[in-house]
Amino acid sequence: MKCSGILVFPILLYHVQSFYLPGLAPVNYCRSGEDTNTCKSQVDLYVNRLNTEESVIPYEYNHFDFCLPSEELKSPVENLGQVVFGERIRPSPYKIRFMENQTCTLLCKKTYSSNDPQDNLKLSILRKGIGLNYQHHWIVDNMPVTTCYDTEENEQFCTTGFPMGCYSKNGRQTCAKPVSKMDASYIHNHVDLTITYHSGAKEEWGSQFQQNGGRIISVKVIPRSIDYKGQPCMQTGDYLSLPTKNLEKGQTFEIIYTYSVTFIENNKVKWSSRWDYILESMQHTNIQWFSILNSAVIVLFLSGMVAMILLRTLHKDIARYNQIDNGEDAQEEFGWKLVHGDVFRPPRKGMLLSVLLGSGVQVFCMTLVTLAFACLGFLSPANRGALMTCAMVLYVLLGSPAGYVSARIYKSFGGEKWKSNVLLTSMLATG
Ligand SMILES: *[C@@H]1O[C@H](CO)[C@@H](O)[C@H](O)[C@H]1NC(C)=O
Repeated sequence: MKCSGILVFPILLYHVQSFYLPGLAPVNYCRSGEDTNTCKSQVDLYVNRLNTEESVIPYEYNHFDFCLPSEELKSPVENLGQVVFGERIRPSPYKIRFMENQTCTLLCKKTYSSNDPQDNLKLSILRKGIGLNYQHHWIVDNMPVTTCYDTEENEQFCTTGFPMGCYSKNGRQTCAKPVSKMDASYIHNHVDLTITYHSGAKEEWGSQFQQNGGRIISVKVIPRSIDYKGQPCMQTGDYLSLPTKNLEKGQTFEIIYTYSVTFIENNKVKWSSRWDYILESMQHTNIQWFSILNSAVIVLFLSGMVAMILLRTLHKDIARYNQIDNGEDAQEEFGWKLVHGDVFRPPRKGMLLSVLLGSGVQVFCMTLVTLAFACLGFLSPANRGALMTCAMVLYVLLGSPAGYVSARIYKSFGGEKWKSNVLLTSMLATG
């Protein structure tokens, strides 16, 4: 037995070495025409729901009148956590081929006329979305597409998501360059995509490509609003403003959507550390550690003080009790002895207390186990929705500790209605 164990272990180790969680394995891309079954040339761009900080309601991509793919493409399968978080990942009409620069490609034209009442509605939905600062969230190669800008301290700040337009309203404006109109919404109808890739030179996995393939490191986008004045890809320098009111009779309005793609080789960043630039640009993480530490120290200090005060009073009381014991007459009770009847008295709302305690234990255990898993690295951000899925599955599984704690405490109060206790524990505070 021992012998076989010793033999099996190294074999296991050997297999464990190269192990990626499903869906997280690197994807190799190569120039079109060089497709093999280890690499593909088409870079898929997926769009997610749009959201904003100014409203709680997220909208699906096709809620707005953007360009849609011409053929029926399948949406990727989503897991439970993603669905609950409201992620709706859909295919997009952007056609990107690996290592093929595109200077300006027409995506689609949308024409609105006053004859169709639906058109005014579509335009007003776009206006409203821009006014509320709704943000696109795109995904390429399982990475979020980011927008980066330089901060005042000359550092790069990257966010996942970019606004669907910009506006000037009531003296406030969100556009990159100052606009003259006082009250207008400008739609971002052009995107500059910059895709950085690692060519695989001097890497084991890259030996099969020789300059014709690689892995995607980052995808950055610069959204722009360009008034093409009817001619796609003509550089005018003007922003495209949406009509502020409903279209009048005989009036038409056209939005031309375009995009450009630039591929840049960068062999300094390894594929395995490609998420770092997103995490680095979130500078708040250090501050949060500081404030967590800060509050922990304050809590410790305060509880220490309270404990000291209690100890001193108790000592005094005990000294007085000892003195009285020496004397003969049994006096009235005073000091800490006054509470002796109250400590084991069941509370009036024992049911509620036990039920809430049970649910609390459930949430607490869930948080603890999820945190442990996350710290061990099972729930990486590349694995979308895993955190939420994990938390929800754990919450369901941890129903038994909740029931145990709740029943145990209820019984210690001498409760009789165990059936309602069971029902309430499972129903009252459902996460
Ligand atoms: C694409 O454009 C970038 C920047 O202009 C250039 O460095 C790169 O070599 C171009 N790539 C191809 C495949 O033409």
